[in-house]
Amino acid sequence: MKIIKVTNQVEGGKAAFDIIKNEMVAGNVKTLGLATGSTPETLYQEIVASDLDFTDMNSVNLDEYVGLEASNDQSYHYFMKKHLFEAKPFKNNYLPDGTTSDAKKECARYDQVIAENPIDIQILGIGENAHIGFNEPGSSFEGTTSEVKLTESTIAANSRNFAKKEDVPTHAYSMGIKSIMQSKKIILLAYGEKKAEAIFNSLQGPVTEDVPGSALQNHSDVIIIVDEAAAKLLK
Ligand code: F6R
Repeated sequence: MKIIKVTNQVEGGKAAFDIIKNEMVAGNVKTLGLATGSTPETLYQEIVASDLDFTDMNSVNLDEYVGLEASNDQSYHYFMKKHLFEAKPFKNNYLPDGTTSDAKKECARYDQVIAENPIDIQILGIGENAHIGFNEPGSSFEGTTSEVKLTESTIAANSRNFAKKEDVPTHAYSMGIKSIMQSKKIILLAYGEKKAEAIFNSLQGPVTEDVPGSALQNHSDVIIIVDEAAAKLLK
């Protein structure tokens, strides 16, 4: 596990971009695993400002809220379109379908998507409770795509983007930890003091399903990009 300390989120976006660019130039990337949330926004800004071409590449996102249409401005489909896909077209963009009536079928479909598009580089943020994707504490390290009940703390954290807390979806479809771990390379980004405990527990605490991010200690190619505040508990 390599830890890169940066001064702020803009520098973090640049550091992640440089890694992705080098891997792409070396011909190592066919499929990029993507995350939503505020953390990867500066990375996406770097990509959009670059001359990198993604038209031969596929993207596979980590998750989508249950119940939100792609056209809903709070959906992750919408987020990705706005922050990346509109400016940088890919061959295919895959996300779970939050509106499907058959959860089991949708999870199986998404696992098939992941199997057919092995992820070369997976971008991750991390929850304050150390969730990766929307795999909340207690999720199995052997888990594949599932419908997840979001914890109160995740709903509270996500509510900053919604008009009222009642509007925040309580469930999401999420890629499982097993699939995340099958990515060839993982880049986890974390900024701000609110992430310090999750970063410490994930990187230097025991490997346990109570701390989803701790699974990353078992991966052979993980790069962690953190600012001082998120790194402040690291020894
Ligand atoms: C998003 C995702 C989540 C977020 C995490 C942090 O696709 O899978 O794990 O990365 O909740 O969110 P932000 O970046 O908004 O702090």
